[in-house]
Amino acid sequence: MSDVSILRADVERVLADFQDPETGRGIWKLEQVRDLAVGGGRIALTLALTTHAAPLWNETRAELVERLQREFPAADVQVKLATHERPPERLGEIGLAAKSVVAVGSGKGGVGKSTIAASLAYGLRRAGCKVGLMDADVYGPSVPHLIGVNRRPEIVNQKIQPIVVDEVKVMSMGFLVPPGEAVVWRGPMLHGAITQFLRDTDWGELDYLFIDLPPGTGDIALTLSQLLPLTGAVVVCTPQDVALIDAVKAIAMFRKVNIPVLGMVENMSYFVCPNCDKRYDIFGSGGAKRQAAELDVPFLGEVPINIAMRVNGDEGRVGASFDDPTCAPFLEGLCYRLVKEISTRHKQAPPSVPLPIL
Ligand SMILES: Nc1ncnc2c1ncn2[C@@H]1O[C@H](COP(=O)(O)OP(=O)(O)OP(=O)(O)O)[C@@H](O)[C@H]1O
Ligand SMILES: [Mg+2]
Repeated sequence: MSDVSILRADVERVLADFQDPETGRGIWKLEQVRDLAVGGGRIALTLALTTHAAPLWNETRAELVERLQREFPAADVQVKLATHERPPERLGEIGLAAKSVVAVGSGKGGVGKSTIAASLAYGLRRAGCKVGLMDADVYGPSVPHLIGVNRRPEIVNQKIQPIVVDEVKVMSMGFLVPPGEAVVWRGPMLHGAITQFLRDTDWGELDYLFIDLPPGTGDIALTLSQLLPLTGAVVVCTPQDVALIDAVKAIAMFRKVNIPVLGMVENMSYFVCPNCDKRYDIFGSGGAKRQAAELDVPFLGEVPINIAMRVNGDEGRVGASFDDPTCAPFLEGLCYRLVKEISTRHKQAPPSVPLPIL
């Protein structure tokens, strides 16, 4: 048959062109192709991908199969998946070992930033990524409430041990300050607290660190941008005009401190009555999507007002919303589109520095 026409060198050329979804670099050079066997009308290989790209594994495999099949129509193509270990580079002077650092902010308070930040963290952990969640809202930390934990972190070897809940590593000022007690921060102290959270917490190696920002001011975004290169920010807003105006300001603020805006989320988009299935656009609908298009910012999706999400948040089980079919698909959609956006950016501008290969 057409056996002889498949040359290993031709297969390797196709593989060299195929981009790793984490780094945007060629999978061949990065040694992410294993057990390549070409012969007998068959192309078989194992594609090794990192956990950073976990939500994209299946589609990446399908894309590779399709690419090989297009180049070698007669071949029987078999691609297996395996995990590729690649440690993160250390970021900034503080040396944080995270591949992507994503701040979640908004212009307005109470739009669901903390809920969305925690959901992104839990969703990506469930997908197989290594995730941390840092509550940078030192004035009104709500992450401890959302995850239902409030105990003091231990110090081991002068490092603060994050609280680990469902395999997500969490750090919050709420763990250090008794609930209900007010903390008064001056600018330099705020800077110091954020620096300490990033530098002195034993985060280990992370694929993603999500940072839940307090509402409004750019202080913390500015501090963060000075400490390490952020992958970008996610801006959460609700559909009514007042929230959108503030979201536009938040986007301008991130741009000013050189934090790329990875996308906008429209939270509390609409409400579907559980009794009659009728949809109510309580705050209007679709405004964030239009605004995102106008500002040339990706739209990561909408999340309706959902009773289960509110209850789970209040009962300290924010991650449980992924088990509820009335809200899970929306949250999974956000996680997927965020990872896809980061991957697309890396594919468009792969890092030029050599990456460590294990
Ligand atoms: N899609 C949703 N459906 C129902 N309730 C929601 C939704 N998103 C958030 N909530 C609820 O809205 C309230 C505010 O959410 P959250 O604390 O996440 O907002 P925030 O923007 O972080 O607020 P702050 O500005 O105070 O930090 C919480 O009670 C949360 O459970
Ligand atoms: Mg909050």
